[in-house]
Order: sequence, then structure tokens, then C-alpha cells
Amino acid sequence: MTNEIVNSALSKVMYPGFTKDIVTFGFVKDIKIDATDVSFTVDITSSAPEVAQQIIDDATRELKAVSAGKVVVNIKSPQMPKESSSKGKNIAPQVKNFLMVSSGKGGVGKSTTSVNIAIALAQQGKKVGLLDADIYGPNIPRMMGVSDIKPEVNGNKVLPIKAYGVEMMSMGSLMQEGQSLMWRGAMIMKAIEQFLRDILWSELDILVIDMPPGTGDAQLTLAQSVPVTVGLTVTTPQGVSLDDSRRSLDMFKKLNIPIAGIIENMSGFIAPDTGVLYDIFGKGTSQPMADEFDTKIIAEIPIEPSIRTGGDEGKPITFVNPSSESSKRYVSAAQSIWAQIEKINADGGVDNSAVQPNTPPGVSACSM
Ligand SMILES: Nc1ncnc2c1ncn2[C@@H]1O[C@H](COP(=O)(O)OP(=O)(O)OP(=O)(O)O)[C@@H](O)[C@H]1O
Ligand SMILES: [Mg+2]
Repeated sequence: MTNEIVNSALSKVMYPGFTKDIVTFGFVKDIKIDATDVSFTVDITSSAPEVAQQIIDDATRELKAVSAGKVVVNIKSPQMPKESSSKGKNIAPQVKNFLMVSSGKGGVGKSTTSVNIAIALAQQGKKVGLLDADIYGPNIPRMMGVSDIKPEVNGNKVLPIKAYGVEMMSMGSLMQEGQSLMWRGAMIMKAIEQFLRDILWSELDILVIDMPPGTGDAQLTLAQSVPVTVGLTVTTPQGVSLDDSRRSLDMFKKLNIPIAGIIENMSGFIAPDTGVLYDIFGKGTSQPMADEFDTKIIAEIPIEPSIRTGGDEGKPITFVNPSSESSKRYVSAAQSIWAQIEKINADGGVDNSAVQPNTPPGVSACSM
């Protein structure tokens, strides 16, 4: 048995809910080898017992595959404080609340949802920012009708772009048109940190954050950088996407982010000529999943051609057609989200300090 063998076996163990392994995250410490026996510590960021158990199971299995000796896995996890208060790291302290919009897979309507929820919150009198954290595929500028606008620079800070009563920033606004990016994990982390720290956001009631699909570096970095007040999962009603959505909800749980609810998007089809609603995939298929995670479906948004054209043309439906059925549903979802944020804050707020101790390697080593 050698350190190399142990590390290579443990690099097959993914950190639950993420696509990176525990060695790459730098969580494995204190490897001790005695002939064929191995013991080591995994110093994790989560206090959830199921995360620890999963790591113990997976690590034991991988080591048993390469060694016949004893395997001892010690888990070091942070103690969650009993009563939480908005403490822990916040690199954007002028922002009071953060809403993370997430989904397990791509193309389900996260960006469309983020834009319309942000506008609905602004219409309700909140001071709202919208951060496009999709570094690879930024399309918020197009959806907000500001793809031709370059942001103003003030010293070494960048001013957000204003549209429809919302402050917006996106990698798309900082790059030349048509530039494509292949980012490495560490650069994504750095980019998200800079979006929070180096953009001159006003004193915001809420920053809506449109995430890239999946549960990866961007999500972890965000949860480590600011106390995310609530998470919103966007899903579509087809059975096949439910597993993906479950992953997204599970990620919120592991990161100790309270879940504001599920938006079931593309839930039926409204014919533009007759206004008749056709139930295509079956509605409410996300209900059992909502129950499982003790949350609610806060809106069912139908497939409506004007939602897509609104996105393509930079004319969001909640702004240009507020009396439409879908706009009303976005508005009521936004009200529900805000009500939950107020409740969470009244109860003492969220605490992301448990996600702090282990900043994944590479974050500070990389410069953009
Ligand atoms: N309810 C809807 N009715 C009609 N079209 C919709 C609806 N929701 C989203 N779309 C369209 O579906 C496409 C994908 O939506 P969107 O870009 O919001 O998804 P996404 O989850 O952000 O995707 P990605 O994972 O690529 O970031 C877009 O063209 C959008 O206009
Ligand atoms: Mg998107």
C-alpha cells in the first residue's frame, strides 16, 4: 500500500451531489498506512449525515478493491449551529438576499424563469439584480434586450446594466459577440467571485442568480461566497427530467439552502390562436418530488409561444404582457418566494459558514 494507491482509489469517490472527487476538492487528509491497513480523514463542508455516510461507503468500496487490509474512514464535518443567523461569508454585503435558480439539466427554462421572476419582483417594488452565472452559455443579455450594450467601468469596478427595472450582469456583456469560452473549473469559480465582488451592485433587496445546468463548481462556489437565502428549482413535467430535478433539490439540501419551491415549466401548451390549454406531458408530475423535499410547486408555466419569442427578442412576457396568464403566474411565484424570504429572515436568516472551511483548490491560485 502507498499514498499514491490510496489517492488514486479515493479520486474515484465523487463528493455527493458534485462532479468532482474528494481528492480534487482537497478534502482527504492524514493518510496513514500500516502494511495493508489504511486510515485517513475526509474533512468535508457539509454537516449532513447522509453526505458523510455516502463518502464512507464509496471510499471503503474503492479501497477494498485495491487492498485486502482494514480501512478506517474518519469524517470531519462542521458542527451546524443550532440557531442560524445570516452569518458566514458574504462577498457582496450590499445585497440583502440571494435567490439561486437551478435545474438538474439544461434547457428547462432556468434563464426564462430568472428573467421573469426578477422583473416580477421589481414590479412588486423590490430593488432587484439579475446575475447570469452561466459562464459558458450566457443568454440573459439577449433575453433582457441588452445584448448590444457594454457596461460602464468605474475604476476597477463594472456597473451593472439596467433593463426593465432590474440591474443585470453577465459574461455575455463583458465579451465580444460570438466569442466562445472554454473555462476550467477554477476559472468558473473565479468568475463567479468577481461577479459578486467587482460589480457595483446597488443596495439590493434581492439578487436573482441564473445558474448553469447541473450541480457543479458554480453552485458550490456561490454557496461558499454568499449566504444563499433560497433556492428555486426549475423542472419540466416529463418523467425523465424528474431525476435531474431531484439532484438539484438534493444539492440545495446538502448546501443548507432553504428551498423556495419548484417551477414546473412547459406544463401544458397554450394555443396562441384559441388560448386553449393542452396538457401534453401530464401536469403536476413534480408533485411527489415536491412532497419528498417538503416544498411546493409555486407555479406551473405553460408552453406559450410568446414566452419564447419574448426571450428571443428581449421582451420578457411579464414586462410586455403583464395581463397574460403566464405573467400572473410568474408574479404569484415571485410573491411566494418573497414571502418565504421574509419568513427565513424573521427566523434568523441563513448561514453558509458550514460551506466555508474547505475552499476547493485552485480558487485563489487562478487569475483571469
Ligand atoms: N414556458 C415556455 N414556453 C415557451 N418557450 C419556453 C418556455 N420556457 C422556456 N422556453 C424557451 O425554451 C428555450 C430554453 O429556455 P431557457 O434558455 O430559459 O432554458 P435554460 O434552462 O436556461 O437553458 P440552459 O440550460 O441552456 O441555460 C428558450 O428558447 C426559451 O425561450
Ligand atoms: Mg440558461
